[in-house]
Parts: sequence; C-alpha cells; structure tokens
Amino acid sequence: MATTGVFLMIFLLLHLSVNLFLFSGEKAFNEAVFFMRGNIFVRIMEYVLAVGFIIHILLGVKLHLENQKIKGKVDYAMNFYFTTSFSSRTMIYTGILILCFLVLHLINFMIPMKYSNHSISDYNIVVSLFKNPFYTFIYVFSFLILGIHLNHGFQSSFQSLGLSNKRRLFWIQKLGFLYLWFICSGFSIIAIWFFFNEN
Ligand code: HEM
Repeated sequence: MATTGVFLMIFLLLHLSVNLFLFSGEKAFNEAVFFMRGNIFVRIMEYVLAVGFIIHILLGVKLHLENQKIKGKVDYAMNFYFTTSFSSRTMIYTGILILCFLVLHLINFMIPMKYSNHSISDYNIVVSLFKNPFYTFIYVFSFLILGIHLNHGFQSSFQSLGLSNKRRLFWIQKLGFLYLWFICSGFSIIAIWFFFNEN
C-alpha cells in the first residue's frame, strides 16, 4: 500500500506541475500536454500508474476488511475510536470518493482529449469545464476529500516503509502538511480561478 501510495503522491506532484501551465496561457498548456503525450517514458508510466491505482485500491479494500474483522471485538472498537484520527478512520470512504472523482475526471478530460476527434484545444476543454458551477464544486469538494485521504496516507506510508521513528515523526508530519496543502490548494486554485475569470 505504502509503495503504491508514494508512487501516486509523486504522480500528483507532476500532474499539478503540468496543470499549473494553465496560468501561462493556452499555447504553454497545450505544448506541455503535447510534450507529456509524446514522451515515451511518460507513456510507459501511464500503464504503471493504472496498475498502481488498481493495486492501491485492492490492498486498501483488503486492509479495511481485515480491520473490520478485528473491530468486531467491542474493546478494540472503543480503543480504535479514541486512538485514531478522523482521516485514518475514513480512509476507505475518502478512497471510494476519490475513485468516483477519477472516473468523472477521465470522462471529462482524458477521453475527449485522447480518444476523440476534437476541434477544441486541450486548454479550452479544461477551461470550459470550470465555467460550469456544478463541476467546479464537485472538483473542489474532491480536492478537499483528497486532502483528508493524504493527511493520513502521507504519514502512514513513511511508517509502513520503516522510514519513520519518534524523532523523525515531527518532520514527517510537517512535510505531509506542506505536501497536502500544496496539492489541494494548487488543484483548487486552478478550478476556482477559471470559474471566476473570463478566458
Ligand atoms: C484542477 C485539477 C485538475 C486538472 C485541471 C486536471 C487535468 C487533467 C488533464 C487535462 C488530463 C488529460 C491529460 C492527457 O490526456 O494527456 C488529466 C488526466 C488525468 N488526471 Fe487530472 N487534473 C486535475 C486533477 C487531478 C487529480 C486531483 C487527480 C488524482 C486524484 C487526477 C488524475 C488524473 C489521471 C489519473 C489522469 C490520466 C493520466 C493520463 O493521461 O494517463 N487529476 N488531468
């Protein structure tokens, strides 16, 4: 779980970096997307990404079911509630919501951009989606859910990989906080900016 989680977190950083080209205008964003699409390394990584997502989801469901079995015992259930954070208790639900977002997101962008003959540019497909208040709301809400998921996921992946100890925990938490704010506010600012600004 931790390995695929770290991999997906690196993907989010790269994805946001490319998306920030939206602020440099139509030509810059279209060129950035074109470059990513034409790059053989990126194309191979797309398959690795898809497999990474699937493994992460399957292992997450398995872990949830195992936890449910143990939680059947009343003492453990009480202890579990008082010793865990909201984000760790809700990982399965935030995960399911992120998966729903992802399906919608691929329908919104990847399918029309990659698999249809479109006359409208990649930049305009993105910008026109955020003119719709429904999509802007769904996207920003999903980024909030992503933040809750990352809040536990970041720290827990360091722990599972054996990279965390009492001394390092403080810095891992700080780095995790910085990471999730950068990711969630970065993606949200894009959606909100293009909702309010004519382009
Ligand atoms: C404002 C926020 C976002 C924007 C504007 C955006 C934009 C895009 C665009 C334009 C593509 C198509 C790229 C292409 O076909 O070459 C894409 C693909 C994708 N996005 Fe996003 N995205 C956003 C947020 C997210 C988030 C939060 C996630 C993950 C939770 C995500 C996951 C993906 C995935 C998995 C793909 C398919 C990658 C591929 O092309 O192989 N995106 N996104």
